[in-house]
Amino acid sequence: MASLSIRRATRRDVPTIVRLIRGLAEYERLAHEMEATAGQIRRHGFGGRPYFEALICRRGRAAVGFALYFFTYSTFMGRPTLYLEDLFVLPEERGRGAGRALLTELARIALRRGCGRMEWMVLDWNTPSIRFYRGLGATLRKEWILTRLTGAPLSRLARRRPLRQAVTTTAGRGGAGRRSRA
Ligand SMILES: CC(C)(COP(=O)(O)OP(=O)(O)OC[C@H]1O[C@@H](n2cnc3c(N)ncnc32)[C@H](O)[C@@H]1OP(=O)(O)O)[C@@H](O)C(=O)NCCC(=O)NCCS
Repeated sequence: MASLSIRRATRRDVPTIVRLIRGLAEYERLAHEMEATAGQIRRHGFGGRPYFEALICRRGRAAVGFALYFFTYSTFMGRPTLYLEDLFVLPEERGRGAGRALLTELARIALRRGCGRMEWMVLDWNTPSIRFYRGLGATLRKEWILTRLTGAPLSRLARRRPLRQAVTTTAGRGGAGRRSRA
C-alpha cells in the first residue's frame, strides 16, 4: 500500500477541498447547510486576503483527507490559537493513520507559530472522534456554548442604529464633560 504524505493545499486543490468538505457535511448530517462553492473557497483561501489554510493528506497521489484551519487569538493566554474548522478522512481510509497524521502536523504548525492551544468543535454524537480526541489528551469544554448570529437576525442587528445615547465630552474645550442625545 502506498504511504501517506501531507502537504499544504494550494489553489489547485480547491476542487478536492470542496469534495472533502461535502463529505464531512454528509457525515455530520449537515449537507443541507453546505453552500460553499469552489469560487468562494478559492477566493477566501487562496486570494489576496486568505482566511484559512489547509493541509491535504495523500496516499500515493490520491487525496484521502484534509484539515482546514485558521488562527484566532486567546487574549487570556496572550497567544494565537490554531482553530481547526474541518478534519475529514474518506470512509475507506479511516483507521489507517491519516487523521492522526493530520493532527500531528497541525500540532507542529501550532507550536511553530507560537500558539498556546488548538481548538475545534465536535458534534456530541460523534463518539468515535470524541474518543480519539480524548486519547490525544484533548479536553471537551461543555460549559462553553457556541453562540451564532446569522441570516436575518444578523442583518437586522447590522441595520440597527448603533447608539441610543452617545457620550460626548467637551473636555479640552473648557467644559466639564456633558452628555447629549445622539
Ligand atoms: C475522525 C477522523 C478524521 C480520524 O481519522 P482517521 O484517519 O480515521 O484516524 P486514524 O486512522 O489516524 O486513527 C485515529 C483514531 O481515530 C479513531 N476513529 C475515529 N473515527 C473513526 C472511524 N469512523 N473509523 C475508524 N476509526 C475512527 C480510531 O479509532 C483511532 O483511534 P486510536 O488511534 O485511539 O485507536 C476520521 O475518522 C473521519 O474523517 N471521521 C468522519 C468525520 C469526522 O468525524 N471528522 C471530525 C469532526 S470533529
